[in-house]
Amino acid sequence: MANVVAFGLQWGDEGKGKIIDLLSEFVDIIVRYQGGANAGHTIVVGDQKIILHLIPSGILHPAKVCVIGNGVVLDPSVLVSEIEELKKLGYMEDARRLKVSAFSHVIMPYHKKMDVYRESATESRKIGTTGRGIGPAYEDKASRLGIRVVDLLDRKLFSEKVRENLKIKNFLIKRYYKGEPLRLREVLKEYAGYRSVLKDYVADTPYLIQEGIRKKKNILFEGAQGTYLDIDHGTYPYVTSSNTIAGNAACGAGVPPTAIDYVLGVCKAYTTRVGEGPFPTELTGPEGELIRQKGGEFGATTGRPRRCGWFDVVIVKRAVALSGVRGLAVMKLDVLDEFDTVDICIEYRMGRRVSMQPPMGLKGWVACEPVYERVPGWKTSTRGITRFEDLPVNARKYVQRIEELVGVPIDIISTGAERTHTVMRRNPLASRG
Ligand code: GDP
Ligand code: IMO
Ligand code: MG
Repeated sequence: MANVVAFGLQWGDEGKGKIIDLLSEFVDIIVRYQGGANAGHTIVVGDQKIILHLIPSGILHPAKVCVIGNGVVLDPSVLVSEIEELKKLGYMEDARRLKVSAFSHVIMPYHKKMDVYRESATESRKIGTTGRGIGPAYEDKASRLGIRVVDLLDRKLFSEKVRENLKIKNFLIKRYYKGEPLRLREVLKEYAGYRSVLKDYVADTPYLIQEGIRKKKNILFEGAQGTYLDIDHGTYPYVTSSNTIAGNAACGAGVPPTAIDYVLGVCKAYTTRVGEGPFPTELTGPEGELIRQKGGEFGATTGRPRRCGWFDVVIVKRAVALSGVRGLAVMKLDVLDEFDTVDICIEYRMGRRVSMQPPMGLKGWVACEPVYERVPGWKTSTRGITRFEDLPVNARKYVQRIEELVGVPIDIISTGAERTHTVMRRNPLASRG
């Protein structure tokens, strides 16, 4: 039996979707445990490219149960269209395969409105959010004004809760943001439509997962975003509004931490970030542009160009420590194929000091400078390579150097977007039985 968390070690978009899809074959249940439709997880199967925002990336595998956990903030409009899309493509024929937690908080139209208004009202404090209402929904959860999926199912209770919320939200929308207030009747009508779809999927998901564990089923926990977008451990305030590190898999799915057997950290062979905030190894010149073009680094949710830079050992090493990562999946090695040399950030210079410890405050993050180790490139295509021995020698050396510097074994190396474009050195699930 093995229950594995796979999550991001950088600023998101590491390639978690591909890894979850790949590993789903070896598990019974796949669980998203935090975030919401701010996530965009891409899976490529042949000439089909599927981007999932809410439904776990295991859904393409028949007979697996996919769970949207209690820690997720759920936008029913996104969920309903995702279900429709998947059905059109011939997936999800059996509705019982998808379970939505009764305890997930529902994203409401005012959450999305507030998210967008807030971002446009304060240019100097702009976070560059996805505009999906994530922050405002988690705020309501913490302030106990939130509406949960179980409340949505109860027509009367839902209507009372929306009425109560609209009093406050419309006041802010009208008076502070000078926007158009929301109408109760319209909101209720829209959500009545979602209720009729959602009711078939709602479950007591912590119970369901715990039952799975009792019956020795294998569970894969799917992280969204990445460690440096974590609300506690990221580059605050340029973060998302949930805990993204592996520890939150327990809370966000409703299982004890002792149920987790293995933590797989997913990172790119370089670094990207979308939205505002510090990024020490960012490349603003032609090298960054080459990575962006070669790696197709444009947001899967918003289409924004992603900022690109070299691999940063300082952040990855700390991310590994924060989550007890036992193995790495290093993604998109093929994107670096054309470089003459490749840089690896091995420490930060802060004034006259160099350190392996990232800065604590925002000013430190902005001021610190990366110290690089330069290694030769391989100038050969690695695309689609599946055996470590077949990688060009300098690519092997690059990967081995990362392994040495970060200090944990690299289980998986990805050489292309497709399932098959993978060097599986050690499958954290298959070998455990
Ligand atoms: P996620 O949010 O962590 O699931 O990552 P995204 O889906 O947002 O972004 C990763 C992108 O890289 C997607 O377009 C994937 O199809 C693509 N991808 C994943 N692995 C590889 C790889 O090894 N090589 C290349 N070239 N693309 C990859
Ligand atoms: P996946 O799961 C990359 C970023 C946004 C913004 C910040 C806050 O695909 O890796 P939010 O809408 O969450 O309030 O935005 O977090 N962000 C992501 N960046 N990948 C993601 O998800 C992200 N989800 C949020 O760009 O900087
Ligand atoms: Mg993404």
